[in-house]
Amino acid sequence: MTVEETLYGISCFGHDAGLAVVRGQRILFAAHAERYSGLKNDPLLNEALVLDALRTAGPPDRIVFHERPWRTRLRHLRSGRLREFLTGPSPLDHIRSFEMLADVPLVTVGHHQSHAAGGFFTAPFDDAAVVVADGIGEWDTLSVWHGRNNRLKRLFVQRYPHSLGLFYSAFTQRCGLKPNEEEFILMAMAALGQPRHRELILREIVRSTLPPHFRLRRNMHRGLGGWHPELTEPETLAASVQEIAEEVLLGLMAWVAKRVPSRNLVFSGGFALNCVANERMVRSGLFDRLWIMPNPGDAGNALGAALAHGARPVRWEGPYLGYDLNRDPDLDGVVATLLTDGMAGLAHGRAEFGPRALGNRSLLADPRGQSVKDRVNEIKRREPFRPFAPVVLAERVAEFFDLPLPSSPYMQITGRCLYPHLFPAICHVDGSSRVQTVDHAQNPTLYRLLKRFQERTGCPMLLNTSLNIKGKPMVNDGADAQTFQRETGVTVF
Ligand SMILES: [Fe+2]
Repeated sequence: MTVEETLYGISCFGHDAGLAVVRGQRILFAAHAERYSGLKNDPLLNEALVLDALRTAGPPDRIVFHERPWRTRLRHLRSGRLREFLTGPSPLDHIRSFEMLADVPLVTVGHHQSHAAGGFFTAPFDDAAVVVADGIGEWDTLSVWHGRNNRLKRLFVQRYPHSLGLFYSAFTQRCGLKPNEEEFILMAMAALGQPRHRELILREIVRSTLPPHFRLRRNMHRGLGGWHPELTEPETLAASVQEIAEEVLLGLMAWVAKRVPSRNLVFSGGFALNCVANERMVRSGLFDRLWIMPNPGDAGNALGAALAHGARPVRWEGPYLGYDLNRDPDLDGVVATLLTDGMAGLAHGRAEFGPRALGNRSLLADPRGQSVKDRVNEIKRREPFRPFAPVVLAERVAEFFDLPLPSSPYMQITGRCLYPHLFPAICHVDGSSRVQTVDHAQNPTLYRLLKRFQERTGCPMLLNTSLNIKGKPMVNDGADAQTFQRETGVTVF
């Protein structure tokens, strides 16, 4: 009998550090550094995170880092960042600075290989086309793979400085938002405008969109500089960039579908969080089934790195892999509070691994009526144009939404709300909703809660947003939940 190695996959030094523990076919732990440090998108590991991993999953036999740092350094040299090339801090030294990790053997795997493995080895199929799209990892920005059984074969790679992700991030910055962080706001903003600058951008910024390539005329890593300062409507820019990104992805997927003999698609990398593009991709009918690991961005690469090294599928048991609050919420109390106060916090079980609150660290609200959105926004202080997401009983989703897939357990794809006038808080201006469907196996507590809310109201749906105060990461432990309750006045169960 072989003894299974305990692998600690780590991603850090990008924009959102993570740590995942895999042994054999099981994912024992996976969490974001930010949830422990309280610093949103914290790029560094911290002791509380490492200690939680040790306590939950035991000590590591091997550490796997999600990138080959020397390749990243060479890119710094090429892009003229000489100081970073010569003196930039090393992520491996950072990992070694934690006493409990200092003497553990450490290996590195490629960044896109980690994204591909994180997607493919958690997928519910053993044969798939795998597409990775992100800002940049080492030199790679877009890659296509064929995954079969335990093997991932790379078919195509697009290299820096040509990058769909950097292109999208540069416009995120141009629209007054934070690049590498607020791309999802640009996506939401796109629905408010018309893509009137599509031609101009394609002519002046993009060199080629001939699939599978995406080539740029300028290095978007440095932003857009003084490009057309007279174009001041962020909604029009956002709509134009979103339209181009969707067209590029559709062209790429059509190219992939012709070359990979599989009807299954795995999509990974930060771009796979673009749920609007995902809807369009699914509706194109190029593939029959789609799998996106719920944390496809760089924090999720902690898991991807461990899986790339292990090079075999794991049992996917859901995204609830982080800190364990180990308590059973009073569901009758939640429903009663929803009916009297309009909203309630739900914090129980293990924290979600990924950017979405999926019922274990959620702020829930009654989605019916006109005033809900404003009231939730008093707590969340978000841009007023952004919609909230609904969570709905899986067996009743078709009565309320036109979804391009039978279910959407991780809020990765938009659908159309059939009654936007009844549920304005969970619908965008274009009628879209980023739906989460829930069945019993997926999250028994959340499922039972929805059932009870339905018994009382006839409505099988709640508004579901992350349990956090603006600018802070999601609630992680009991102390965070108390702070949230104290600062917002919302009861957390
Ligand atoms: Fe990445």
